[in-house]
Amino acid sequence: MGLFDKLFRRKRPAAGFSCTAVVPAAGSSKRMGEDKLLMSLHDVPVILWTLRALEGCPYITEIIVATRQDLIVPIGQLCRDAGLAKVRKIVVGGETRTESVLAGIREADPAADLIAIHDAARPLAPQGLLNAVIERAAEIGAAAPAVAVKDTIKRAVDGVVESTPDRSRLYAVQTPQVFEHGLILGALEKALSDGAELTDDCSAVERLGVPVHLTAGAYENIKLTTPEDILTAEAILERWGV
Ligand code: CTP
Ligand code: MG
Repeated sequence: MGLFDKLFRRKRPAAGFSCTAVVPAAGSSKRMGEDKLLMSLHDVPVILWTLRALEGCPYITEIIVATRQDLIVPIGQLCRDAGLAKVRKIVVGGETRTESVLAGIREADPAADLIAIHDAARPLAPQGLLNAVIERAAEIGAAAPAVAVKDTIKRAVDGVVESTPDRSRLYAVQTPQVFEHGLILGALEKALSDGAELTDDCSAVERLGVPVHLTAGAYENIKLTTPEDILTAEAILERWGV
């Protein structure tokens, strides 16, 4: 039994819920230096790896992509060529990630119980990770995958260490972050109108005082940010033999 299972006792998933995946894909890949969502991993564009993973998850009934105006046609073509049946809409995202996520959520089926928000730049989410986080959100209302931090983290100001937080209580949070539909819509709209700067979607819910549960993430579920991440992703695919 893994650490997360010990910490948060597993229950059976609630039966009969539907989940819309919202995929923010409207970034400008500044740190990568070229459009990372169209870069190839083993000859398949990054965005297709991401969308194929979501398409393969049985809990996900539809996928909404929020991207830049100039990518709507190429991404649509990629989805059609790949036969991705769950991609229902590709819409224009916003200036910030939060605005892109909200643009996607506003297009979701109003009857969807859950919203799973997953970075387009995270192509390697394993199916078990997707199922676990969606099941937990169906039980609890808000869940995110996380991995234990490997490095020792320092809190510092102007290059001087202030403190060293206890590493055993630090986690790196990943996506998909999954929420009850009305909860995340309200939380993100409030964060936006309050002018809160969010670095993930959980933060919008946390600032309302609503608990967010962590599920087992995967070190392979990396976000492609800088060029060396592409080498890591290729190596992971090599090891998986795909
Ligand atoms: N994203 C988005 N809308 C924005 C900014 C980001 O949909 N206005 C998306 C990105 O496309 C990506 C995810 O949010 O899938 C995570 O963002 P990040 O890794 O920061 O990607 P970029 O913003 O594209 O990269 P950078 O910050 O280096 O420019
Ligand atoms: Mg960014």
